[in-house]
Parts: sequence; C-alpha cells; structure tokens
Amino acid sequence: MPYSDMLLQTCEKYPRYVPPDNYRATWIVGGGKGGTVKTTSAIHLATVIARSGSTLVIDADAGSQSSAKWAATYQQITGKEPPFTVVQHTLETGLAATARRIRREGGFKHLIVDLPGNAGAQFGQALRIAPEDAGGQTELILAITPSKIEVVTINGTLEKAGEVAEELEREIGAQIIWCRNDSRTIELSDAIEAADDESQGWPYLRTVVPQRVRYRNFGEIPDHTGSYEGVVSEIVEGKAVVLQHKKKEIGAA
Ligand SMILES: Nc1ncnc2c1ncn2[C@@H]1O[C@H](COP(=O)(O)OP(=O)(O)O)[C@@H](O)[C@H]1O
Ligand SMILES: [Mg+2]
Repeated sequence: MPYSDMLLQTCEKYPRYVPPDNYRATWIVGGGKGGTVKTTSAIHLATVIARSGSTLVIDADAGSQSSAKWAATYQQITGKEPPFTVVQHTLETGLAATARRIRREGGFKHLIVDLPGNAGAQFGQALRIAPEDAGGQTELILAITPSKIEVVTINGTLEKAGEVAEELEREIGAQIIWCRNDSRTIELSDAIEAADDESQGWPYLRTVVPQRVRYRNFGEIPDHTGSYEGVVSEIVEGKAVVLQHKKKEIGAA
C-alpha cells in the first residue's frame, strides 16, 4: 500500500469503534525492546475491546510504565475503576497457566497480555494461551516504532512465534502496529518498504499510530482512543494475517 495513503487520517477522525458481541480477544502485545509502545498500545486496545465485554489485562512487565501502574494512576486521578482489570504476573514461569486460570475464574471475555521488552520466556508462554472458544485465534500484536533499530528485530520475533505455532499445531495471528510515527521522517516509509519486500512479507495494520502528546498521558483512559479505534477495528474485522504452522502448510500442499 502506498505510504502516503496510510497517513491521511488524523487520530480524531477514526469513528468510535464498538466490537461486535461475538468477537473474543486473546491478544498478546509484544514488540522489540523497551519503549516500543507495547504498554501504551495494550492500554488503548483494552479500552476499546472492553466496550464489548469484561477484559483482563495481564501485565507481564515490572517496568516503570507498566499496565498495572497505568490503571492505578487512573484510579488515583479520577477516583474511578478502569474499564478493564489489570493483574500482574512478572515471574519467568507460569504465565500461560495463570492467564488461563484468572480468565476462567473471573469469567473474563477478553484477554490482553502486555509483555516485557524481549522475546524471552514469557513471549513463548504468552503465545501458548489458547483462546477459550473453538473458533478463536490467539493474535500476536507487535507494537513497533518504525526505527531501524526496532525493525531489525521483526524477523526474529515472527520466526519465534511461527515456531510456537508449529509446535502447538495451531494457527497464531500476527500484526504489526506502526506506533509513534514521526511523519517528518522517512522511517515509516522505509519500514513499509522492508515489510513489503517479498523475502519478508511482514503483516502490518494500515492504521498508523502517530507521534502525539495525547498518547503520552500516562494514567489517562480516554473515551475516544484516537488511532487505536482504527487499529482495533482492523484486527477484529479479520484483516489479521495468519502464521500457519508448517506441518499444516505441507499437508495442505
Ligand atoms: N503515539 C505516541 N506518541 C508519542 N509518544 C508515545 C506514543 N505512544 C507511546 N509514547 C511514549 O513512548 C514511551 C514508551 O511507551 P510504552 O508504551 O511504555 O512502551 P513499552 O511498553 O514498549 O516499553 C512512553 O514514554 C510513552 O508515553
Ligand atoms: Mg511496557
């Protein structure tokens, strides 16, 4: 897609999105290293998806600006409960089992995992959290700032996710959200060129999250989430690209 077409929308122009009742999210928010906008994305995604049902966010990162602290700050500022529940799990082990148990016991419809900044042990565990419903699919959502230093991590991350899909003999969806894009630079145009290269074919959403002060408001949970309205509608409306596990591909050929 031409890069220029992706920048036409300003954040406020996206219609407020309410997901359909029959969609159930199991979304794993990962990405490159630190500061690639995983937590900001997880919180904004949770805000939108929570409009269609109870939402559990697992905060797997003890980092300074974590989802749990975001929710606590919101509570302090407004005196209100956030529209989703955040539970911390920062241990190296047990992430998948904990997520499944809390989801089941709490009767949560949606689950979002906010990962720390690496593709380590918790990354693989998070991808092992199967959706509760038969037709559902776990989605890996990569929040990536389109800078050279982040873009080089994408192949490795997608490969690791593909290995988990192969091992589980299950399909895992994958999408990149280009986040914190500075439209004065050519970084996004370079990143898209790399993504569209035949040898890579990285899956990415057409909705770009620009660099804006509004996303820096730690602890705020806005009624309209700007570009994330478009991001969630793209994921839910089924544009997500599937990482086929290899065995099935060979079987189907
Ligand atoms: N769209 C945006 N525009 C400008 N700054 C942003 C945007 N999204 C996030 N940020 C800022 O970038 C920094 C890293 O974001 P964060 O979500 O904490 O990343 P991560 O969880 O990957 O470490 C934070 O200071 C955050 O406020
Ligand atoms: Mg974070």
